Amino acid sequence: MGELKQYKMAVEQSNIVSKTDINGIITFANKEFCKISGFSEDELIGRNHNIVRHPDVPKANFELLWNTILQKETFKTTAKNKAKDGSTFYVNTTIFPILDKNGNILEFIAIRYDVTENILLTEELKRKEEELKHLNATLENRVEKQTKQLLDLNRNLERKVKEEVEKNREKDKMVFQQARLAAMGEMIGNIAHQWRQPLSELGIILFSMKKFFAQKSLDKLEEQYKQGKKVIDRMSQTIEDFRNFFSLEKYKNTFFVKDIIDEVVSILAGSLARSKIHVKIRMRKTIKVFGHKNELSQAILNIINNAKDAFKDNNIKNRTITISAKKDEIFVHICIQDNAGGIDEAIIDKIFEPYFTTKHASSGTGLGLYIVKTIVENSMQGEIAVENKNGGAFFMIKIPVK
Ligand SMILES: Nc1ncnc2c1ncn2[C@@H]1O[C@H](COP(=O)(O)OP(=O)(O)O)[C@@H](O)[C@H]1O
Ligand SMILES: [Mg+2]
Repeated sequence: MGELKQYKMAVEQSNIVSKTDINGIITFANKEFCKISGFSEDELIGRNHNIVRHPDVPKANFELLWNTILQKETFKTTAKNKAKDGSTFYVNTTIFPILDKNGNILEFIAIRYDVTENILLTEELKRKEEELKHLNATLENRVEKQTKQLLDLNRNLERKVKEEVEKNREKDKMVFQQARLAAMGEMIGNIAHQWRQPLSELGIILFSMKKFFAQKSLDKLEEQYKQGKKVIDRMSQTIEDFRNFFSLEKYKNTFFVKDIIDEVVSILAGSLARSKIHVKIRMRKTIKVFGHKNELSQAILNIINNAKDAFKDNNIKNRTITISAKKDEIFVHICIQDNAGGIDEAIIDKIFEPYFTTKHASSGTGLGLYIVKTIVENSMQGEIAVENKNGGAFFMIKIPVK
């Protein structure tokens, strides 16, 4: 066998080989070509090479192919082809024009090898990558959406909480005003009580003045006049005290606890005396706290009023309220103890709740201790607790020392 023949054999056995004439009509197809295309040799010979053309391949590719090989140049490409059964195969293709002695094209020979698996794998990989990209994108989208929803929820919640807080504040304000009005009504009674004594004193003074005037004892008249002025001063001071007690303070202050307790007890003096309640105050003068002093007096007043009610309800004979205060490094403790029989253990956990009352018959509002708790916790950053001991209720107020 000649050398050339051997080359030809080697090429044909290792590759997919076909030949066409200058018009693209198949003149030769090797076994490998038949195998991959699924056509028999008979079916291929004499047919146009486009028998394996794949419809996906754009026309421009063939134009480029023909332009190249008709110019007697080699054309290389990876071609997508269609087999007889419709399946796709990919081949790396090299097409050589074969020329005669005069340099005219005799025919074309195409040598190919199968890269279907490679291409399919690459395509699969590409698809997977696309999918992944898509997934990623939607994931990002989803996460973004989720985050947005969460943020919205959060914002809504914040708004709701704010609204609720606002509502509560409004409610507290109303409750405070109601309680203030009720207490003011009671105060009128207390003022009346506190004025009873000086009013009768004034009566006596006026009577004496008339007498000394008749006797022309001007010195004595002058003395009675001064006495009268003092009484009137004391009376207007009482009014002043009540006015201060009920005014709303803008600013917090440092004040002595004992001053406040004394003030409350003096303001309540009338009703305490009427109810025969003895108040003991046990504390050093120097203990100070920081806050709105009228609010603390209001709190103490509410607690004392409850004791007063309990004394009456339980028909207690020796009525005592002991108010004490002590101070350590962290807290000022203010304790109010009565001996009115204590609070039913079944309800003791509820007494600070707004509108909780056991005094429906005597029209309790159930707001007293709620106000106390609000003042202690919100205004003074303190704590309040209650327990039954020594035959009565024992309230402890803890206010932090700044
Ligand atoms: N010192 C006390 N002794 C007995 N019970 C008390 C005392 N203080 C409060 N309570 C109970 O706590 C309830 C709630 O008190 P409060 O909030 O002041 O409302 P109100 O006095 O209008 O009922 C009272 O109805 C009463 O049952
Ligand atoms: Mg009350």
